[in-house]
Amino acid sequence: MTCLNADTVTEERSSDRKLILVLFGSPRKNGYTAKLLNEFLSPFGENVQIRVVHAYDSGIRPCTACDVCCRSERCSQSDFDELDSLIRCADVLVVATPVYVLSFPAPLKAVVDRMQRYFSARFSLGINPSIAKHRTAALLVTNGSASREGAQVMARQLKMVFSVMNTTLCGEAVWTGTDFDSGRSTFDRARREARDLALAIKSEL
Ligand SMILES: Cc1cc2nc3c(=O)[nH]c(=O)nc-3n(C[C@H](O)[C@H](O)[C@H](O)COP(=O)(O)O)c2cc1C
Repeated sequence: MTCLNADTVTEERSSDRKLILVLFGSPRKNGYTAKLLNEFLSPFGENVQIRVVHAYDSGIRPCTACDVCCRSERCSQSDFDELDSLIRCADVLVVATPVYVLSFPAPLKAVVDRMQRYFSARFSLGINPSIAKHRTAALLVTNGSASREGAQVMARQLKMVFSVMNTTLCGEAVWTGTDFDSGRSTFDRARREARDLALAIKSEL
């Protein structure tokens, strides 16, 4: 069984194995989100490469709306370039995050906003698709309350962003109620959702 700490950047890119790129949104590398991510990754076994990018460590700055990406296929800030290369070659994109005030924690929101370059590539530069290769995506969410509203808000945002990234959001796994009894009563359902989603994605790889 693959058992990753979310702190782990497992491997560098090599040619033959599928790449799962994880955008990790929690500042807590061993918290609820990491636990849910491990459940999701378990079914993939050893035959994939997994790369975890921690939004809190990445130093990716907010979009400055400079509009450079409307005039040429690049960003004025180079801090997103490595992530751009990873996104372009990823086979699966996983967004794993806690809910903060019904949305992404600020560092992950900055990453999502920086994807505006793909919108500009599509609609200002006419590059269609803005990313040549198609990938599937999954959203893994943890939240303190019993509500799934935060996950719904983030899924809506991602569907919009992914619509210009040749990326299809396949589904969500949501661990609600982590503020109550450390999420024990809701974990079984969340882990089933995560594993079912992983198996569905794995069958298409
Ligand atoms: C700044 C902040 C804002 C939060 N906002 C929400 C919220 O709007 N809804 C909710 O259900 N939980 C909210 N939470 C609770 C977290 O989503 C929850 O504790 C989550 O499981 C933490 O995951 P982690 O252990 O991976 O960091 C918030 C927590 C923090 C620190």
